[in-house]
Amino acid sequence: MITGMRDPSTPQAKAPLRTRQAPKQTAYNDIDLTRWKEYDEVSTDSLWVIPSRERSAGHKLDYHGNCVPQILTQMLQRYTKTGETMVDFFLGSGTSAIEAHRLGRHCVGVEIQPRMAAYVQEKIDDLGIGETTRIITGDSTDKIWTGRKIRNALQEFNVDQCQFAFLHPPYADIIQFSNLEKDLSNAGSTDGFLEEFEKVASLAFELLEKGRFAAVVIGDKYTNGELIPLGFYCMDRMNRVGFKTKSIIVKNMTGNERGKGRTSNLWRYRALAGGFYLFKHEYVIVFQKP
Ligand SMILES: C[S@@+](CC[C@H](N)C(=O)[O-])C[C@H]1O[C@@H](n2cnc3c(N)ncnc32)[C@H](O)[C@@H]1O
Repeated sequence: MITGMRDPSTPQAKAPLRTRQAPKQTAYNDIDLTRWKEYDEVSTDSLWVIPSRERSAGHKLDYHGNCVPQILTQMLQRYTKTGETMVDFFLGSGTSAIEAHRLGRHCVGVEIQPRMAAYVQEKIDDLGIGETTRIITGDSTDKIWTGRKIRNALQEFNVDQCQFAFLHPPYADIIQFSNLEKDLSNAGSTDGFLEEFEKVASLAFELLEKGRFAAVVIGDKYTNGELIPLGFYCMDRMNRVGFKTKSIIVKNMTGNERGKGRTSNLWRYRALAGGFYLFKHEYVIVFQKP
């Protein structure tokens, strides 16, 4: 008989019941790889064009220099499981704390400015998300004192190490965040900034669980007509302390800026006259602790 046709003399085999495949997951997120086609909201592309910032769940543009919440959404979905804990070494206005809570994760955040730490504490109290957040007023370059405070906060979430580390430092001196000496925006020179950044990277490496991920959000800058590639320099410092680079994501800048109007035309003029290009992107660089 022709292959593929059933021999009518044999009894028809019972069709097997269609059972759902057992979920297949990595050790570091909740994504079920047997249903990988269903995760449209999770990005795997290295170019992110985010037209507007997320404003739900208490997110607002209340701090010059804060990041769009969507960066945290993507990172936490890819690199953490529900109930796990992240550490944000540059908390700023608390974007990570709000997003971690929204996604059912914990967040320990360190911020050097007491004023900002108090502001975020008030914000999370108003939002009623204090249970998933611990805020530390401190200097993230200080391995001993801040390291100890972070470890204590992690203990409150029943872990010794975190499952994700987030570093969104000042982009050197582009924005001066405070007058505090240990504020990275006051490091004085690119080398000084990188030395201080490396101390934070080293603390992040120590506090992150093996096999887990860290992300650095950073942009480049111009000084005296020369491009200073802070993104690549910071990547190098992360590598020096032991992190392996997994991905460089290029993210557009829109969604994070207030209206620029006439000044953007002025910059366009300066770019044309000076032979350079205007920054429209920053980096989200992803690392893994081997
Ligand atoms: C780019 S902002 C982070 C913004 C934050 N991701 C947000 O969405 O609001 C950098 C923050 O790092 C803080 N900072 C600077 N030096 C620091 C240090 N040594 N330790 C801890 N925080 C520091 C600044 O005060 C500032 O709030």
